[in-house]
Amino acid sequence: MNVTLRPGSPKDAETCGPICYEAFKAIADQHNFPRDFSASEVAAGLLSQLFARDDIYSVVAEVDGRIVGSNFLWENSMIAGVGPITIDPAVQNVAVGRRLMEDAMRRAREGRFAGIRLVQAAYHNRSLSLYTKLGFDTREPLSTLQGRAIEVEIPGYAVRPANEGDLDACNKLCVRVHGHDRGPELLDAIKQGTATVVEHHGRITGYATMVGFFGHAVGESNEDLKALIGAATEFPGRGFLLPTRNSDLLRWCLGNGLRVVQPMTLMSMGLYNEPCGAFLPSVIY
Ligand SMILES: CC(C)(COP(=O)(O)OP(=O)(O)OC[C@H]1O[C@@H](n2cnc3c(N)ncnc32)[C@H](O)[C@@H]1OP(=O)(O)O)[C@@H](O)C(=O)NCCC(=O)NCCS
Repeated sequence: MNVTLRPGSPKDAETCGPICYEAFKAIADQHNFPRDFSASEVAAGLLSQLFARDDIYSVVAEVDGRIVGSNFLWENSMIAGVGPITIDPAVQNVAVGRRLMEDAMRRAREGRFAGIRLVQAAYHNRSLSLYTKLGFDTREPLSTLQGRAIEVEIPGYAVRPANEGDLDACNKLCVRVHGHDRGPELLDAIKQGTATVVEHHGRITGYATMVGFFGHAVGESNEDLKALIGAATEFPGRGFLLPTRNSDLLRWCLGNGLRVVQPMTLMSMGLYNEPCGAFLPSVIY
């Protein structure tokens, strides 16, 4: 089989979108988990945005001139993020995914990123095996949580929308928790109006770019995250990702009516600091 790789472009979304939809649908249906995308057009819409972004590298795989898969490397942080990677179900398990992953890893090496990260569906044996063989380490089991807004306030922890004046304090907090900041992502979220901060004793002790699938949050303590989660009006996407080992926070969320919809795994290669504080990763970290 003659597999060739080339950079992606927005017009590839027309073919890669349906492949992305079918690839995730096939594995989810097989395991009786909810589908990642409600329709092929939704997947195509997401991929057309990713193909168009300057801070995301994209790569497309072709077999004999026919597109069979795509992958993305998010380059807007000192830790690069991989995904979504999807292969046409008709040609899965014949090394196309390995080629697309190796290409993203090459790109990350050339860009001198300190590390690479991804989140995989924990029930998917093949992706877990492939990423582990390629050198990714399992860092954290995650639970995807979804449900109605909790609408709970934590006394002494005030949540408000974030603004650009909060960036410095938020970045310092992220460095304390993760060892590096995620300033560009936070700035994007502030501009889009999705970011929130929590203040305790008159200073910022936590922030969220969004409490949802594509957002991350950090806090000095679980109380900060409870305040941020409690103030969220919805949990966009599949839900938000909560480190399952954080039993106190998970119990609190379950006690407030949220449901676990899917187990996932945070994996990384290169620089990874064991978080020193409370955190919610995004699907790209
Ligand atoms: C996950 C996915 C991208 C992998 O691509 P692929 O082309 O099917 O996978 P490959 O053939 O390149 O690699 C699979 C590897 O896992 C190994 N493998 C598969 N199932 C395995 C199992 N149950 N136990 C151990 N190893 C397994 C294969 O032997 C192969 O190893 P090798 O590269 O050393 O030969 C693709 O299957 C896909 O699109 N899946 C649906 C969407 C999805 O889940 N995307 C990932 C989101 S994180």
